[in-house]
Amino acid sequence: MARREELKGKVAIVTGASSGVGWQSALRLAEEGVKLCVTARRREALEVLQKEVEARGGECLVVPGDVTVAGDVRWVVSACLQRYGRIDILVNDAAVQTYGYFDQLPWEHIQRTLEVSCLGYLRFAHAVLPHFRERGSGHILNVQSMLSEGAAPLLSAYVAAKHATLGWAKALKLELHGTGIQVSNVLVPSVSTPMFDHAPTQFERKPVPVPPTYDVDLAARAVVKCARKPGRTEIPAFLQGTMLLWMDRVAPFVGNLILGRYGRRMQQAREPLHRPDGNLFQPVSQGVGAYGSVPPTPGWKRFTAVAGLAALAGGAVLGARGLARAVR
Ligand SMILES: NC(=O)c1ccc[n+]([C@@H]2O[C@H](COP(=O)([O-])OP(=O)(O)OC[C@H]3O[C@@H](n4cnc5c(N)ncnc54)[C@H](OP(=O)(O)O)[C@@H]3O)[C@@H](O)[C@H]2O)c1
Repeated sequence: MARREELKGKVAIVTGASSGVGWQSALRLAEEGVKLCVTARRREALEVLQKEVEARGGECLVVPGDVTVAGDVRWVVSACLQRYGRIDILVNDAAVQTYGYFDQLPWEHIQRTLEVSCLGYLRFAHAVLPHFRERGSGHILNVQSMLSEGAAPLLSAYVAAKHATLGWAKALKLELHGTGIQVSNVLVPSVSTPMFDHAPTQFERKPVPVPPTYDVDLAARAVVKCARKPGRTEIPAFLQGTMLLWMDRVAPFVGNLILGRYGRRMQQAREPLHRPDGNLFQPVSQGVGAYGSVPPTPGWKRFTAVAGLAALAGGAVLGARGLARAVR
């Protein structure tokens, strides 16, 4: 069983901290007494976060950088070591996504999505591991997605990046067995972050998350839980989490049917929008802070969806069993 760690006084680097899950996780970790080194490309946004952390009595070092630039990543790690003398936790969070049919996505979008959302994680881990090995302890905590296990249309490059990152994290965990260095993953469901306010899209409509959407704090609390009990894979949501993974095992055709048929419609609002590059190559001003423009789905709607999906999956499984018996 995972050991419970005291977080007060620990030092964490949080990537992707200028918005969304990274921002909220940084705030929650600071509340636990963790000293922060926050990074992303937008310095001004990070400085707003720094003020918020300091106003609550926390410590926060701002080191802007791009996760695709080796020199930037090395600089973040060394600036953190210079300031605090140690690193205990790396929260790998920075990611981008790009909406479009795979064959209609510009190749540069596919490559950049993998460079940020997958290689960015590997690059940061590669940079902190020598320090962790020297100390015989440390924690690589990866913000993953339900799309690290499953899939959604229009997000093929992002799904590829997320699957690859989870596979890498599992292999790394095995390699680090017995070294005192832990690897954890948080499988985040759709959450109410600014990701959808700055992601590029090939369609002329505003992108929105696959419903239901949860409060971003659900993901941040899961990050803190993992920080306290390293080495686990945390699935913070029931409907778009435990239940979906279970359904994917017992009745995969239900998810395939719903997402295959309605996935494109589900991920686009009526609101017209022209945003072909979004924040992929350059940071944009939209979307600072934890919350974006898409609100969390109300609890009663989530409850109705659980009941509906459970009935659908149960009916489908019973139907399939009946059919198998009749054929025998
Ligand atoms: N929102 C969801 O529904 C959802 C669902 C499942 C998983 N997740 C995961 O949660 C994590 C955070 O996503 P989010 O929803 O919080 O999105 P977000 O608000 O767009 O945050 C992404 C962060 O990554 C940073 N970033 C992007 N490109 C970068 C680059 N090249 N170098 C350095 N930093 C870069 C962004 O800041 P700058 O632009 O300032 O660089 C931003 O701080 C991601 O790993 C995502 O896969 C999100």
